[in-house]
Amino acid sequence: MSAGAAGRGRGEVTLVAAGAGDARTVYELRNDPFTVRYSGSGRPVAWEEHARWFADRVARPADHRLYLVRCNGETIGVLRFERRDARTAGISIYLAEQAVGRGIGTDVIRAGCDLIFRHWSVGSVEAEVIAGNERSVRAFRKAGFSPRSGAAPETSGCTLVRTRDEAAGGEPS
Ligand SMILES: CC(C)(COP(=O)(O)OP(=O)(O)OC[C@H]1O[C@@H](n2cnc3c(N)ncnc32)[C@H](O)[C@@H]1OP(=O)(O)O)[C@@H](O)C(=O)NCCC(=O)NCCS
Repeated sequence: MSAGAAGRGRGEVTLVAAGAGDARTVYELRNDPFTVRYSGSGRPVAWEEHARWFADRVARPADHRLYLVRCNGETIGVLRFERRDARTAGISIYLAEQAVGRGIGTDVIRAGCDLIFRHWSVGSVEAEVIAGNERSVRAFRKAGFSPRSGAAPETSGCTLVRTRDEAAGGEPS
């Protein structure tokens, strides 16, 4: 991801696995009104609920992977994967408002999928996007996702899917 990032006049963007000490950082990004607006639930979460959820997620890397999106030493977003079943993972991403619209999300989604296909033996990754979130639909499409057949992503919420690219994937560890 770093090479693409540098070419667009922004700092180098990296993905860092979140640890137990990152609960507050993730909480603040998750509850930012900009993130809440595009979340599936449409509501902020309470600290106690988040703390329980976060501790559970970071303790189970076989089923959940949480990454901080970092740029110039600052955490500007969160990328998350969850195993849904043996063949499918879910993806969720949110960036801070000041970081959106510069191509970072597209690069992060692409790099994150490459990572998860190396770590997990899933065949596809799915994203749920709420109605009206065109920027998200465009970012996922550019990162290799396609709307599930029959979906009309520009007008109604939808699921977008990216399947394992066998040529680039390699064997999962
Ligand atoms: C969705 C998100 C991850 C996308 O990342 P991003 O860095 O903002 O996206 P990009 O800069 O890579 O741009 C994606 C595309 O959307 C377009 N876009 C930007 N703003 C837009 C807008 N307001 N409406 C429609 N399209 C828009 C961009 O032009 C780009 O397409 P193009 O390159 O073909 O022109 C990021 O915007 C985000 O975190 N948003 C808030 C939370 C969220 O929606 N998460 C996803 C939930 S499924």
